[in-house]
Amino acid sequence: MVPEAEQATMVVDDVGPRNVGIEVSTEERNVRLTGTVVVDEGAKLFRLYSKSSMYAFCVDPVGRIEHLYWGKALPPTDELTYLSFSQGPAKLQRAAVAKKYLRAKPSATALVSNDASGSDTERGNDLADSDSSMDGGPPNCSERAPSPQRVESALAEDDSSAGAHRDTINALGINNLQDLLDAGSIFRAQIDTSTNIKCPLPWENPRTFLGEWAGAATFGKPAKLLEFGEGNTGDYRSPSFELQFHDGGRVCPFRYRSHRVIPGKPSMKNANGTLPELHTNAKDATTVVVTLVIEKSFLECDLVYTVFSDIDAIARRVVLRNTTIHPVLVEKLMSATVDFHTFDSFFLTHLSGSWANERGIVSKELSMGRVCIESCRGTSSHQHNPFAALSAGQPREEDGEVYGMALVYSGNFVAEADMCENGRVRLQMGINPTNFEWELQPNEIFESPECVLVFSDSGLTGMSHQFHNLFRNHLFPKQFQDTVCPVLINTWEAMYFDTTYANVMSLAKRAAKSGVEMLVVDDGWFGARDDATSSLGDWYVNNEKLPEGLAMLAKNINDLGMHFGLWVEPELVSQKSRLYQAHPDWILHKPDIDKDSADGDFVLDLTRTDVQKYLIECMSSIFESANIEYVKWDMNSHITEIYSDHVAPSAQGKVYHQYCMGLYRVLRTLTSRFPRIRFETCCGGGGRFDAGMLHYSPQIWTSDNTDATSRLFIQHGTSLLYPPSCISAHISSVPNHQTLRISSFKYRFLVSLFGSLGLELNITTIEEEECAELSMYLQLYKALSPIIHEGDFYRLWNPVEQKQRCAWMSYHQGRGEAVVAAFLLTSDPGHYLPRLRLKGLDPAATYQVEEIIPSTAAHNVQTGRIEACPAPIYKLGKKSITASGRTLMNAGLPIHLIYDGDTAAFYIRDSARKM
Ligand code: GLA
Repeated sequence: MVPEAEQATMVVDDVGPRNVGIEVSTEERNVRLTGTVVVDEGAKLFRLYSKSSMYAFCVDPVGRIEHLYWGKALPPTDELTYLSFSQGPAKLQRAAVAKKYLRAKPSATALVSNDASGSDTERGNDLADSDSSMDGGPPNCSERAPSPQRVESALAEDDSSAGAHRDTINALGINNLQDLLDAGSIFRAQIDTSTNIKCPLPWENPRTFLGEWAGAATFGKPAKLLEFGEGNTGDYRSPSFELQFHDGGRVCPFRYRSHRVIPGKPSMKNANGTLPELHTNAKDATTVVVTLVIEKSFLECDLVYTVFSDIDAIARRVVLRNTTIHPVLVEKLMSATVDFHTFDSFFLTHLSGSWANERGIVSKELSMGRVCIESCRGTSSHQHNPFAALSAGQPREEDGEVYGMALVYSGNFVAEADMCENGRVRLQMGINPTNFEWELQPNEIFESPECVLVFSDSGLTGMSHQFHNLFRNHLFPKQFQDTVCPVLINTWEAMYFDTTYANVMSLAKRAAKSGVEMLVVDDGWFGARDDATSSLGDWYVNNEKLPEGLAMLAKNINDLGMHFGLWVEPELVSQKSRLYQAHPDWILHKPDIDKDSADGDFVLDLTRTDVQKYLIECMSSIFESANIEYVKWDMNSHITEIYSDHVAPSAQGKVYHQYCMGLYRVLRTLTSRFPRIRFETCCGGGGRFDAGMLHYSPQIWTSDNTDATSRLFIQHGTSLLYPPSCISAHISSVPNHQTLRISSFKYRFLVSLFGSLGLELNITTIEEEECAELSMYLQLYKALSPIIHEGDFYRLWNPVEQKQRCAWMSYHQGRGEAVVAAFLLTSDPGHYLPRLRLKGLDPAATYQVEEIIPSTAAHNVQTGRIEACPAPIYKLGKKSITASGRTLMNAGLPIHLIYDGDTAAFYIRDSARKM
């Protein structure tokens, strides 16, 4: 890892006058580069510096945007154009010269120039000469005097290899470095000749070798790494966009026209509606907008990159502007495209699963062909998450380079990884082109959702830290950024649809005594909602269940010292509802086809502004009707039989995206109208857990599966991208309602501790003793959650790889405090667990490690039976130990977890810090 000091600042000793964009001048010798864009105007080369990494691209000779590099930060003074695969006459000369040298005796003065001096005609002659004068003298090309110092020092540095070849070199009459290099060509040529390959490789110039000479002939167009890959022009990789013009033409050669560098991040207000996006200020970020144009048609496009100073992240989006006089059909527009040069092997990591088993980590090796991770369900889905990461080789938790992408979008998405024949991979993400078509009228703009690119050179952990910090600092609603959600009790698993005043109040009274801070009334409080088959859309209080109404209920809850929250599911309407009877045309469906409504629900047509308006006003009146401080916004359906009666038949390809935009409009209006209300979004559990939703709700209901062991897997995968604070994690009752599994209260608490903790159980039925235990846990949560929510999260033991065990840790560097928990899923009697090695600590600091919840069971050594113990059992033999960070990270903690569901948890504190 790059040391902290180096990460923060990179000193530029000599920034040439051509570097503009951040006002870098030669006088400014020490420039903070993080969060800036350095543009070399001469070479049209762009370097985007985030915290400690860099992303670079340039304009190629024909005006395409060629990707050069993404990785650790490189000095802005380094020449990067040699990474380009651009074709140009200079390379032909290089190849020809090398060829000419096949049998020529190198001379100390006849040196080949690497620059583009000399006319094209001369180069052409060189090429012709080379064929006819293979035995001749040195080539007739521009000469460059060798620098004696360069030659000396290079030879001195490489003394051993020079020594090994001394005889040969002497025999060839080699006097300096350039001769040595040229001799290299000859050695290569000889080898190649012996294997009947006629052309020598000019290996000393990778640009020549890879790009114009071998590259063009062997690889074709996919050889070039592009930022915005066009189709239909001989490049058969999956394109970044697909457009169709009024005449049916699909060839779209977008070429560079101009660029501008802007402090901060321009907001996305140009879009057709407003998309959720990362927020920042002028000091934190810089944006570069590269404008491309299709010359004859004048269609314009902006590639927008925002680089952040505090995180190794870039936000990337694309804006299309129809400046032509005809409509243009947009069939595909990826938010970000990154082309990777080859690695020995590429692995794609993503999050996949199902209802009740969301976001498991999947890593697979790529081979030639295209892999798509996608949703076509109208929501980002339980099955796949809008996230993908590429790594060189199998991704490792702590080391290795990982390149992550996440889409700030909640609808149909696709992440494509396309390995082409030369082994290079294109990774891109955006709105799913399936069922998507957008006719862009003259003067209209289409803006893609934002895609976040994150680089880590410290494996998956480093990537998670970048995403966590980015979402916490730049995505969550600002007013909730630094707050912990109150501990809540949700009525769902406590009473399902039986949300009577009596039931709710008795739950509330018992919860208040245990230290619960908020009560959320879930499904069942409205219309005639006694089961899932009716009343969605009838958002008025069920007077039979709640005769006192919401205002009084909220007041009574407030009087117990608790906040009040409410569940709603506004996007759906039940067939059995007054709303549907009044507006049967408000749903997404094809009128002449029977709508399949398995649950008796339909999805409202949020493409319609009247429906959006209705929802905004209807929800506003509920939110105003009582002291509601929390809203759980649910959506228990995927979208099927997509069709909007309100949209022209030829424009039905817009409906999925317009639905999403309509939802965002409703959420944006309500969250700004009610800034005090904390939203939790939900979709049949965790079916819309994405960065788009996090823009409006600082936490998301993670899964309908509340079983603690299942949650270990779900939360473990979710943590790859999403910080613990946004992972709603509720302690539920046992036997668990989804699995019938029984686990201890402590185990269930520790799983929920690493999320936004709540209760999903009927607290009125638990024993007094358990209530006391619960109070203690809630106090612990309140004390420890700031460490977990603001700290760096580490996956110490992976339950998928290690099968029987899992361990997590959060370390808050600023406070010097950490929380660690380890879980045994399946015991293996007689076999010891490995020591639990901690991560992220300061090796030189001394830490006090305290076990926070001692065990109550141990082996009876007489019988071998595990029995309850009268005295507390500490896994380390005593309540606390003191050790250096170095010891804790290298020797680890020898914790003996002995039975299924056994756990241990520690609070760790830098002893030198004041409490
Ligand atoms: C979804 C949610 C649950 C609950 C029910 C109510 O399934 O995920 O938590 O709110 O809806 O119908």
